[in-house]
Amino acid sequence: MPKKFEIIHKRVLNPEMSSISVYAPWIAAKAKPGQFIILRSNEEAERIPLTISSHDDGLITVIFQKAGAGTMELDLLNEGDCLADMAGPLGKPTPVEGYGRVAVLGGGLGCAIALPVARGLHEAGNQVDLIAGFRNEERVILQDEMKAACTDLHTCTDDGSFGYHGFVTNKLEELIKSGVKFNQIFAIGPLPMMKFATLMAKKYDIPCMISMCPLMIDGTGMCGCCRVTVGGETKFACVDGPDFDGYLVDFDEAIERNRTYQAFETERREEEAE
Ligand code: FES
Repeated sequence: MPKKFEIIHKRVLNPEMSSISVYAPWIAAKAKPGQFIILRSNEEAERIPLTISSHDDGLITVIFQKAGAGTMELDLLNEGDCLADMAGPLGKPTPVEGYGRVAVLGGGLGCAIALPVARGLHEAGNQVDLIAGFRNEERVILQDEMKAACTDLHTCTDDGSFGYHGFVTNKLEELIKSGVKFNQIFAIGPLPMMKFATLMAKKYDIPCMISMCPLMIDGTGMCGCCRVTVGGETKFACVDGPDFDGYLVDFDEAIERNRTYQAFETERREEEAE
């Protein structure tokens, strides 16, 4: 019998990203596409929000990028080790029913979030074009899983070393210009990518849902850390999201706030390296 929060599988996906499958059957039983968990690798560690990539056989699988001190600490754990805790499933599930043809755009780590959303949409009977973007071939992940989760997979790289040469928004526009009629776009990835995906969606008058993944502390709407301005109102990504109507999100404000946190992360990494 596995222990509570035991890491059952760990997989290195590329030089920056790994996935872990953690024993948490009570969370796995309730999880839906688009929802996330918050975990701590040890009692002193920071809280890390991660989208649930899959939830089978009592295991919650999450994918993380070794970007900051917290995720680097998490990466030190191996199969057989236990997390200190995990809370979830958190956030509202992504609505997946009744769109018809949809495009799901994933950028970098966002592909790990786009995967369960695409799978949910596909299982609900929608025709799903999954457009997954990476910097280069070395960064490409989850090809088999993504192929199985959609109708058509379009993998793109910024430098053309694998698949389509260009950004996910270039591929999206190419498909639209070729006559494909999308009823809904989902964009999941770095803030600038979601901003440009929304601008593209507006250009062709297609609704666009985006997924916010700001820093989070409590995950219950109490601390205000994950606030985002949507339609002129303050919303909390942890309880009101993570999905929002891209047309209404103040991306410039979110990008500015994110920059502040990045400066803290860099400072923290440098302190740890000393
Ligand atoms: Fe605290 Fe959302 S994480 S309000």
